[in-house]
Amino acid sequence: MPLSSAEAFAPATVANLGIGFDILGLAVDGLGDWVRAERRAEPGVVIEAITGDDGRLPRDAARNTAGIAAAAVLQAIGATEGVALTIRKGLPLASGLGSSAASAVAAAVAVNAAFGEPLPREALLAPSLEGEAAVSGYHADNVAPCLFGGITLSFGLRADQIIRLTPPPRLLLALVTPHVEVPTAHARSVLPPNVALKVMIAQTAGVARLMHALAQGDVAAMAAAMESDTVIEPARAHLMPLLYEAREAAKQAGALGLVISGAGPTLCAVCDTHEAAEHTANRLHALYQLAGYGCSAHVSRVLEQGAHVHL
Ligand code: HSE
Repeated sequence: MPLSSAEAFAPATVANLGIGFDILGLAVDGLGDWVRAERRAEPGVVIEAITGDDGRLPRDAARNTAGIAAAAVLQAIGATEGVALTIRKGLPLASGLGSSAASAVAAAVAVNAAFGEPLPREALLAPSLEGEAAVSGYHADNVAPCLFGGITLSFGLRADQIIRLTPPPRLLLALVTPHVEVPTAHARSVLPPNVALKVMIAQTAGVARLMHALAQGDVAAMAAAMESDTVIEPARAHLMPLLYEAREAAKQAGALGLVISGAGPTLCAVCDTHEAAEHTANRLHALYQLAGYGCSAHVSRVLEQGAHVHL
């Protein structure tokens, strides 16, 4: 018997992992968005309420990432009924934590669950991407880890073009978000349209190094490979307050490396002990506060399970 309503949680994600622009990402334990979907007789999607966004997200379902994803799921299952969505944002907007992907994925999972899960998980990728594209274009580096969990490599937009990679067991993240917004569209507009062949070779080598480090479960080698990007980070650095100071402070505190999370401004420090991760999060929090920025900091692991129905 299908449920009449269901609530889903979808995690924050760190896209790019530094060197893997638009192709790599990981799911973060403990941070994310919730969407409740309630079936209703009238077809289509309505947004009943959104909390945690300070009234800034569109209430019009056709312009809201969660609303668009929900409508795409309804269409995929051929539903004649509709849904009402209630969205609880746990993630800040334009922060580099995959906020729009999390809302889209949570909506897709909740609507599918409310109809008795007619679609397998893989079939929720396209509706989720459609929702996220409304904000940041078509790339799967946030949606894929959000939906499937763990670390993902996306070499295309279909489910059979997503590879799930095993996170090193010792991997811990210190995530620090200064309270400055960096809209993804702007962070993409500052990127160079072309790179030289020798730069392309170095970037390819960096991604290959990262794949090898992951295969070895070597967190130090992983951090070094993540930091080897020479294209995206230099182009975006001016949008991230205190990026280089934060990298230095993180390493002094015991982190093995630090990269921009997604399009920023969240920074993701890579650690291999809980002590180093706690110490790093505290140091970075203090760095931003001293410089007059509000900021939030978290220590987290990779979430192996992706978005899930929240009981
Ligand atoms: N790969 C994307 C970017 C993630 O860095 O622009 C943000 O949507």
